[in-house]
Amino acid sequence: KEIKIFSPATVANVSCGFDVLGFCLDTVGDVMTVRKTKAKGIAITKIEGASLPYEPENNVAGVAAKAILDAADNPFGVEIEIYKNIKPGSGVGSSSASASGTVWAINELLGRPFNKQELTAFGMKGEALASGAEHADNVAPGIFGGFTLVKQLNPLKVVQLPTPSEMWATIIHPQIEVKTAEARAILPKEVSLQKAIKQWANVGSFISGLYDEDYELISDSLIDNIVEPHRSQLIPYFDEVKKAMLDNGALGAGISGSGPSIFSLCKGEATAMKVAEVINKVYESTEIEFDIYVSKIN
Ligand code: HSE
Repeated sequence: KEIKIFSPATVANVSCGFDVLGFCLDTVGDVMTVRKTKAKGIAITKIEGASLPYEPENNVAGVAAKAILDAADNPFGVEIEIYKNIKPGSGVGSSSASASGTVWAINELLGRPFNKQELTAFGMKGEALASGAEHADNVAPGIFGGFTLVKQLNPLKVVQLPTPSEMWATIIHPQIEVKTAEARAILPKEVSLQKAIKQWANVGSFISGLYDEDYELISDSLIDNIVEPHRSQLIPYFDEVKKAMLDNGALGAGISGSGPSIFSLCKGEATAMKVAEVINKVYESTEIEFDIYVSKIN
């Protein structure tokens, strides 16, 4: 018995919510096949689209598979095939897509014994291998869909948030690699109370905006004065792209995960497409190759 799944890309942080907020993209993601085997153990039998380790203990999908299979007392083994459309180091949750896809698929093969909170916890084990630190802000939206808040890590508690009906995302992925571990290492270890007050006010008002479909409040809350000023220096033309997004109707814009992708949230497809067009112009004249994704959020 085997299962073939689509494992979505995700955007973590969402400006004000470093390590806690995230959302799932509907149309961008990897494809995976997970096959039940009589022999116990985990084998990664195919990886296309990226050069990643085949040894299960060095592969995010392998580590995540072990976490869920161990918790189920290893009733069978698995073979995993990974078809990556999300490039590693892109900032749209490449490693977490492998982790969340694997645990989702194995839970189906097991007969769904685990709930979404538990699946996120298993996926997080795999994700930790890639980023050097446990965080669930990419895995959670991959498992739950839509917007999520990681309220706490130990024990893990994920809160599913609502998605306003006309919410779209437009993302540009400049093809330079930013390693999450390095993008974390450059961050200040402490923040001033003044900055912290602004940040938690924005997280609260952003979430209230999601519940009330208050696009103006959402727009007003998509600000990050703590992490973005440091990480944006790693991303070529960040300021130009962000300005183009905001000038053309995006509700807000910022770094997707640890970068280099830059995301914007938009009300409606027409605005999302317009933003795609203008950011294409910003990068078109540079040497850097890039991809642009436009996706509804559901
Ligand atoms: N919250 C994490 C970070 C996401 O920004 O470092 C990266 O995967």
